[in-house]
Amino acid sequence: MILVTGGAGFIGSNFVLDWLAQSDEPVVNLDKLTYAGNLANLVTLDGDSRHIFIQGSIGDFALVARLLSEHQPRAIVNFAAESHVDRSIHGPEDFIQTNIVGTFHLLEAVRGYWQSLADEPVRQECERSSGEVSSKQSFRFLHVSTDEVYGSLATNDPAFSESNRYEPNSPYSASKAASDHLVRAYHHTYGLPVLTTNCSNNYGPYHFPEKLIPLVIHNALAGKPLPIYGDGQQIRDWLYVKDHCSAIRRVLEAGTTGEVYNVGAWNEKANLDVVLTLCAMLDELRPRSDGKSYKAQITYVKDRPGHDRRYAIDAGKIERELGWKPAETFDTGIRKTVRWYLDNPAWVENVTSGAYQNWVGKQYGSRS
Ligand code: NAD
Ligand code: DAU
Repeated sequence: MILVTGGAGFIGSNFVLDWLAQSDEPVVNLDKLTYAGNLANLVTLDGDSRHIFIQGSIGDFALVARLLSEHQPRAIVNFAAESHVDRSIHGPEDFIQTNIVGTFHLLEAVRGYWQSLADEPVRQECERSSGEVSSKQSFRFLHVSTDEVYGSLATNDPAFSESNRYEPNSPYSASKAASDHLVRAYHHTYGLPVLTTNCSNNYGPYHFPEKLIPLVIHNALAGKPLPIYGDGQQIRDWLYVKDHCSAIRRVLEAGTTGEVYNVGAWNEKANLDVVLTLCAMLDELRPRSDGKSYKAQITYVKDRPGHDRRYAIDAGKIERELGWKPAETFDTGIRKTVRWYLDNPAWVENVTSGAYQNWVGKQYGSRS
């Protein structure tokens, strides 16, 4: 049994789906179901007794303590967070509450649970643990973090390695940096067996259409502007979400406690190039009815305040030490992604109703 937090969000839901496709070890999924958490992502698990969904917050100490005591997980993977940089600029409060205070309460509940476990591995054969070992020694807390904690790179700087200094620039990245420090401190102070992964920009199925790639696909098909912040020459390093999931599984299985692993797929791209690639792919797969290219919808808008210029991940450590490699190139991953959005208009319709509409109005009222 493992506990996943934030498992109804973009990466978390991909992780839960992949986990249960590859093993019968059950998952308790704790998610607050904010605007970014959607049970529509997990609909294929309806009626599957290996998936136990609980709506609630990582900041609810009593709830988390009860779940841990009841289910006795051998590992926790913490995805739960507020994740969108633009939202953190417009309103940092939720980021502080969930990413910092929430992570603190989660760690406190986990510390109590972990200290209550037996010292040595004990083989358990109860129905829910499926024979997996649950002990103080074998327990793992894997914290999912971001490359944004390292700040911004200049054009010729080497890619971020695990020894780069933390220099977060947005309220989002500062809140993630704070949570990383708490996780680290719980290892050094209490001995909690933690692992931290810092990864680059994910893309793929179930990505909420406020983020660049799904937003551009969604807006293109809806005949809306494709907003490029500033000059569009900012660089992000793209990782297909299923590759991120396989990296997390590998770190959970073989990572050294207290260590940090950067995860990336060596795919640095300027934002404008990503948008042009998406336009070309849509021109091929779903041409506009007027015969023009989707490029005609590209619109330059005011830049994001404090916009980081370049991120790039050096994934050498996880590749060398744990033998992990991404399966997708950017070309194969982006094609799968565009096809997924074209094949799943009902999912997009579902998640873009309600709270999302209010957010789009608020943001672009002051930008375009
Ligand atoms: P997301 O916004 O799509 O999903 C976050 C999930 O967390 C949602 O399901 C939401 O309901 C849930 N959540 C929010 N607050 C909660 C709380 N207090 N308690 C329980 N659940 C809560 O985010 P994502 O893109 O899937 O990112 C997952 C994690 O990976 C985050 O920690 C993020 O910082 C990190 N990360 C994301 C990326 C990326 O490119 N998306 C890259 C690097 C790291
Ligand atoms: O690097 C990892 C991070 O990647 C994660 O930690 C974050 O949770 C995740 O949201 C993502 O952050 P970014 O800010 O890089 O992602 P976003 O999709 O918001 O933006 C990607 C780039 O595209 C960024 O340079 C801003 C730009 N952009 C974004 C949007 C939404 C645009 O030019 N236009 C847009 O409309």
